[in-house]
Amino acid sequence: MDEQALRDQLALLGASLFQRGYSVGTAGNISVRLPDGYLMTPTNSCLGRLDPARISKLAPDWSHVGGDRPSKEVFMHRAMLTARPDAGAVVHLHSTHATAIGCLAEPGETAPIPPLTPYFVMRVGRALPVIRYYRPGDAAMEADIHDAAKGAKAVLLANHGPVVSGRTLEDAVHAAEELEEAARLALLLRGAGARSLTPAQVDDLLATFG
Ligand code: 13P
Repeated sequence: MDEQALRDQLALLGASLFQRGYSVGTAGNISVRLPDGYLMTPTNSCLGRLDPARISKLAPDWSHVGGDRPSKEVFMHRAMLTARPDAGAVVHLHSTHATAIGCLAEPGETAPIPPLTPYFVMRVGRALPVIRYYRPGDAAMEADIHDAAKGAKAVLLANHGPVVSGRTLEDAVHAAEELEEAARLALLLRGAGARSLTPAQVDDLLATFG
C-alpha cells in the first residue's frame, strides 16, 4: 500500500473504531510504519474524524516532518515499533474493558486475561505484559514498553489502556478488537469458574496460526 492509501485506511479504521465505541473523545492514537518514516495520528485528534491529509508524518529518526503535531505518545509507539521489527502498525486505545483489566492487574503480570477463546490467542498471543502506570506522554515509559514488547505483540498500561501491534494496520486493529472482547469476557466471567483453553490447546493454536 502506498502512503496515500495508508492515510485513507487509517482514517477509515479510526472512524470504525470510534463509531463502535472503542475510543471516545480524543482518546487513542495509531501509528503506521512507512518505507521512509511513520504516520501517526495528530495529538488531540478524534479517531472518528481524522483528515488523511493532516495525519502527522515522522522521519525515520522520529522527527516531525509533516501534517499536524503528532500524538504525545510517540515514545509508546516508538517502543513497540523498534522492539518488533516485523510490526507495521500500533494501535493504542482506552477501550473500556481492557482498561478495566489494566486497573485490576498488577504491573509485572504477563497474562492478566486468561486464554478463554481461540481468537484472543491467535491475534494477541500468550503474553500481555502489564506495564506500570506512567503519565500519558511520559518518555520514561519507552524503555519498559520496549523490553516487554520484545516478547509480546501487545502490552497493557496500568490504569491507562492497551498498546497493540500488528503486521499491518488492519492486523493491529483486529488484534485490539479481540483484546477488548477478551477483556469483556474475562470481566463477565470473573469468579464464575469459566473454563480456559488448556496449555496444549494454546500451543496448538500458536503452532497452527502463529
Ligand atoms: P494524543 O491525543 O496526544 O494522541 O493522546 C491521546 C491518548 O490516548 C493518550 O494516551
